Amino acid sequence: KKYNVAVVGASGAVGEEIFCVLQEQKFPIAKIIPLASKRSSGEEIKIFGQKHRIKETTPEIFAKEEVEIAFFSAGGEVSKEYAPHAVGAGCLVIDNTSHFRMDPSIPLVVPGVNDEDIAQCNGPGIIANPNCSTIQMVQVLAPLHKAFGIKRVDVSTYQAVSGAGKRGMEELVHQMQKFFAFELEDASPQAFPHRIALNLIPQIDKFLPNDFTKEEMKMIQETNKILHSQIAISATCVRVPVLRSHSESISITFEREVPALEARKILEQAKYIKVCDAPKDLFYPMPMNATDTDETYVGRIRNDLYDRKILHLWCVADQLRVGAATNAVRIAELWIQKN
Ligand code: A2P
Repeated sequence: KKYNVAVVGASGAVGEEIFCVLQEQKFPIAKIIPLASKRSSGEEIKIFGQKHRIKETTPEIFAKEEVEIAFFSAGGEVSKEYAPHAVGAGCLVIDNTSHFRMDPSIPLVVPGVNDEDIAQCNGPGIIANPNCSTIQMVQVLAPLHKAFGIKRVDVSTYQAVSGAGKRGMEELVHQMQKFFAFELEDASPQAFPHRIALNLIPQIDKFLPNDFTKEEMKMIQETNKILHSQIAISATCVRVPVLRSHSESISITFEREVPALEARKILEQAKYIKVCDAPKDLFYPMPMNATDTDETYVGRIRNDLYDRKILHLWCVADQLRVGAATNAVRIAELWIQKN
């Protein structure tokens, strides 16, 4: 069977990546329907080498175009407004925003980690795609949790500007151009709260009353929903001037002593994970190498010097792919298999 597939946010950074992944994965498509806001409706885009015109996202469009699978990545408000109409028209919605993620009636899925949760959505409905930083972290934590039992996780992220969409990527490039023109002082920040070029910003999303940011709380809550666990997690999320791969420094406290070598063996067998860990050869994951790939890379795996129950590691993945488009397409493929 082939499906009529819509992408809401077709002109955005994630939307464009979804088209690439659909093509690479030879997704069974009957008709592709690119949707965005009124602003870009009528604009021509090339998908799979063919010209298409973007259509406006409206409540009626899903029924009119007989959409069967709809990928949403146009912000939480758009999902809130239009996803129910898509479901009403009989669609499977795969939602990239945070809007439905913590709703107990909506599965939050990372293929390879909690595939069985897809069963909650048999037929039309919504499946939520987790936060980008959560996805790459749970891919690493899940096999280790299963093998050894995790008690606590402390993570610091180094998140690329692509997480803020196209305007985030453009802002970094623009500010770097200003730097080379000796005009960086005039680079007024818009996508970020401060200048991002040649800087780091220890704030992603809004601050909450507990002094953590929303992004940090997403990593904490979503991880435990996906793993069906009650792991103590603390996160510090930092925006860095990297274009599109997120890195994470993760410290994991296990129930028992876990030699780094044993953890490494488990990770070498984990789905969608590549271990890159040869310090002697200066070999470890870096954003530059992860970009435009569908794997999550892990390295610097080592035991804590004071407590053998603690392991430290470093993990990198392409934010637009693993953190968004690839995971969304993998969810759709799983749903097709199971339905
Ligand atoms: P548009 O280009 O028409 O504004 P990014 O994450 O890269 O910033 O992209 C956001 C995506 O969400 C774009 O494709 C954008 O389309 C789309 N979008 C923004 N607002 C709406 C809306 N109200 N309805 C549908 N799509 C929207």
